[in-house]
Amino acid sequence: MENKIDVLLGLQWGDEGKGKIVDFLSEKYDVIARFHGGANAGHTLKIANMTHVLHLIPSGIFHQEKINIIGSGVVLDPFILKEESDGLKNLNINCVKSVLISKSAHLILPSHRMLDAVYEQSKGSAKIGSTMKGIGPTYTDKVSRNGLRVGDILSDNFIDAYNALKEQHLRIAGMYGFDVKSFAIEKMPFEEYEKEWLQSIEFLKTFQLIDCSSTINRYLAEGKSVLAEGAQGTMLDIEYGTYPYVTSSNTITAGVCTGLGVSPHKIGRVFGIAKAYCTRVGEGPFPTELSDEVGEKLRLKGMEFGATTGRPRRCGWIDLAQLKYAVMINGVTNLIITKSDVLNSFSSVKACVAYKANGEVLEDFPFNLLTAEIEPQYKEFEGWCTDLPSAGGLDGLPSKFKDYMAFIEKFLEVKISVISVGPDRSETIFLS
Ligand code: GDP
Ligand code: IMO
Ligand code: MG
Repeated sequence: MENKIDVLLGLQWGDEGKGKIVDFLSEKYDVIARFHGGANAGHTLKIANMTHVLHLIPSGIFHQEKINIIGSGVVLDPFILKEESDGLKNLNINCVKSVLISKSAHLILPSHRMLDAVYEQSKGSAKIGSTMKGIGPTYTDKVSRNGLRVGDILSDNFIDAYNALKEQHLRIAGMYGFDVKSFAIEKMPFEEYEKEWLQSIEFLKTFQLIDCSSTINRYLAEGKSVLAEGAQGTMLDIEYGTYPYVTSSNTITAGVCTGLGVSPHKIGRVFGIAKAYCTRVGEGPFPTELSDEVGEKLRLKGMEFGATTGRPRRCGWIDLAQLKYAVMINGVTNLIITKSDVLNSFSSVKACVAYKANGEVLEDFPFNLLTAEIEPQYKEFEGWCTDLPSAGGLDGLPSKFKDYMAFIEKFLEVKISVISVGPDRSETIFLS
């Protein structure tokens, strides 16, 4: 049978537990590849009581002998790459050896991070709530054909090209009346940070820089198994998310084809991951958000604070109307439900099963969740009010919990493959 690439991606607004599950599944794969996004991601792995947060390095890194790829669709900040690699070096993990980087990935410049601040400031109360990692401005330069790519660092005129682009960014900042002098990145004044950034370009040169598409297609032809690791979530997709409150890349399955340079025929299983409830960090619409003590309880029990920015995450009930849309867009073949344990002490649990607007149930996912007057319609489930076992199959799980899972499966018409019942690698129930 033809060898295909499997995909794991978030079905909600990010932070579904992708890092934990990619780490869990990595055992079965030879290659793990990030296909889009950048260090706006924060993927948390808990292995043998140690917690690690990855922003840029793929979540297969804790398995020996795996190949990790940063693909063409990623926007790469060499400073963060160096920081993260140094942290992993202390754990005896050599990223230079096991991470391959696409020459076509675009570089995040210090001045891209400045522009993130410029644009957010200029939007005032309409701000996106960006992670301020320079993601939007870097993708903007990519699309407007002004960007610099990883492969460009090998060229003799790289510094000239860098300076020209920086000057352009400084002119834009000036036009917005931005206070460049007092702007700091990573707690450093711009010029000091820029020196560090330029040094990390030298570090980036020590990696194996690859032609991403040829490399991945060759691996597939050789029979290697490849897992594409998503960042963010479907509702943060630039085309199909809650625009403009989204990130600047395609977070969905289609993004794997462009981000890694593989044909749609090469996509195999699509693991879609969702929490047993729902969260969002940053601004934008969130129909099932709970601004009461139930939402607060979800935040505290789920420890819902951003892995990249530390911001409290907004919390609410699972939204099956939204998940149905995400399953459709991504062609999900296998569902993964995480953080089920967070609901253990809730006497009742709700799931949104439809949206109503002006008294009518909406057939299609609305163009604008913000302006449409969305009224989520809920189905209520009795809580299971007991701890979930951390191993075994479906049989050991409480029947009320199984009813909740069975409803989700039936509603979304996709089988659940994995149920996560705790942050640790071992707290995972594998069903199929
Ligand atoms: P990602 O961005 O999708 O990788 O998710 P994050 O790492 O940002 O956020 C998920 C958080 O939930 C992390 O703190 C994980 O350690 C934690 N987590 C993952 N799965 C579970 C689970 O099943 N139960 C609990 N309680 N925590 C989990
Ligand atoms: P992981 O991979 C949750 C959100 C930001 C903001 C919007 C745009 O950990 O799930 P950006 O920095 O991309 O310009 O921010 O997207 N956002 C995320 N929210 N998880 C993420 O990644 C996110 N990456 C970006 O909060 O609302
Ligand atoms: Mg995260």
